[in-house]
Amino acid sequence: MAAAIVRRVRQAFMIELVDLMRTAIAPVCLLLAFFATAAQAESLVDGDVAAGKTKSTPCSACHGADGNSLSPQWPNLAGQGAPYVAAQLAAFKSGDRQDPLMAPQAMALSDEDVADLAVYYESLERGTQSVANADTVDRGEALWRGGNADRGVPACIACHGPTGRGNPAAKYPLLAGQHAAYTAKQLRDYAAGTRKSDGKTRMMREIAERLTQDDVEALASYIQGLK
Ligand code: HEC
Ligand code: HEC
Repeated sequence: MAAAIVRRVRQAFMIELVDLMRTAIAPVCLLLAFFATAAQAESLVDGDVAAGKTKSTPCSACHGADGNSLSPQWPNLAGQGAPYVAAQLAAFKSGDRQDPLMAPQAMALSDEDVADLAVYYESLERGTQSVANADTVDRGEALWRGGNADRGVPACIACHGPTGRGNPAAKYPLLAGQHAAYTAKQLRDYAAGTRKSDGKTRMMREIAERLTQDDVEALASYIQGLK
């Protein structure tokens, strides 16, 4: 009963969010652009880029020497906002994110290591790729830009920005150029509730639950091609 009410309130909230985004999309984008520019000037995390580079040697085996990984299962880290990276490393430590390859890596890091690695990866340039599947571009783009009002899915651009640059201050991650296989896995992990790093807001879990398998594949492909 209580769960049903909570669910209905959440559903109403999402639908309102979708409406709000429709009317507020232009100012939101301007605001995002402002934050993105402000954050580029100086990192929001107090770390040492040179020390981070030294500490990144074990990481580069999977995430690539320039922060762009070769395997589509391993995420690109180059250009990612430092506050988001630090939060994800904390999530692997706390168990809010689980992965047999990544969790042991995070466990070994001190707070200083986390800050240094976060600002180092933020300083690198994200590589570009093409969409994974040219046949699903229309579906991917429609969801990315407009969401799905019937199912209460908000437009992704409202938080991740029109070109998927994200918002470092708000810890909305950079998505552009990310491997489709990795992105699809994350959306499935949120939907299954095994990735809980969105915390009390459950922001991404609520959204991912409303996506179909075809939505997930189309979005992941489209995101890979964003530049
Ligand atoms: C053995 C391979 C491997 C190594 C070495 C490794 N990682 Fe990872 N890392 C992964 C995988 C796989 C994931 C994605 C896990 C998942 O699916 O959630 C990941 C995810 C991440 C994420 C989350 C990215 C995002 O977009 O949310 C960060 C941050 C990260 N790793 C940082 C590091 C750092 C820093 C190091 C070195 C201290 C490191 N990794 C070493 C395999 C590795
Ligand atoms: C209300 C803001 C908001 C909206 C709308 C939103 N996101 Fe997110 N997204 C976030 C936040 C915040 C995170 C980081 C959560 C965490 O720490 O796990 C995130 C994380 C992600 C990640 C994980 C990135 C990584 O590197 O692991 C993916 C993939 C993603 N979002 C895709 C989408 C897609 C696709 C949509 C549209 C269907 C969308 N998001 C809509 C706020 C949002």
